Amino acid sequence: MTKKIKAIWAQDQMGLIGRDGQLPWRIPEELAHFKSTTMGQAILMGRVTFDGMGQRVLPGRISLILTRDKSYRVDHPDVLVFHSVEDVLDWYQNQERELFIIGGREVFCVFEDYLDELIVSKIQGIFEGDVYFPTEFSWESFKLLEELEQETTTTPFTISKYRRIT
Ligand SMILES: NC(=O)c1ccc[n+]([C@@H]2O[C@H](COP(=O)([O-])OP(=O)(O)OC[C@H]3O[C@@H](n4cnc5c(N)ncnc54)[C@H](OP(=O)(O)O)[C@@H]3O)[C@@H](O)[C@H]2O)c1
Repeated sequence: MTKKIKAIWAQDQMGLIGRDGQLPWRIPEELAHFKSTTMGQAILMGRVTFDGMGQRVLPGRISLILTRDKSYRVDHPDVLVFHSVEDVLDWYQNQERELFIIGGREVFCVFEDYLDELIVSKIQGIFEGDVYFPTEFSWESFKLLEELEQETTTTPFTISKYRRIT
């Protein structure tokens, strides 16, 4: 089996991904896409994102939280806390699940070199917020595979999938 490390996130037309530790929008269909794509797999997020979710554990998935804080604890059977990228990659070697890097910005930066695929929800709009997808990201290392337009009851979005080529 070829395991892949995939990044999945949603961004607006300016690359915005976060506002006050949370998502800048509420689009149920986008959340449903995230849920169905990641269900049964492992998801890794930064400590800021996890705290922004009120430390709510997403069911049916193993959650990996990245923090430099050695005293950070989460008392939940489906949550693992890691203190370095290397420790995450070591853990992942013995796993059969796929690993989804789900953000935020800092985590996308430190995992960029290990990403095989990108799954981006491009939200058709410009929102207010304070965290953007890294502008220094090497998009030229990835090839667009498909784009699927999604109608919603709120804001439409397009799911774009990319695969690493270099
Ligand atoms: N639109 C989307 O799809 C999406 C997805 C996810 C998140 N977001 C948004 O993104 C925002 C948060 O992004 P962010 O960049 O501020 O924070 P983040 O990436 O969620 O978390 C950053 C934290 O991760 C830990 N960390 C980072 N690199 C590390 C390393 N090499 N080793 C150990 N720990 C490391 C540190 O935790 P400590 O400070 O504890 O050491 C750091 O403060 C929120 O608004 C969230 O809602 C959006």
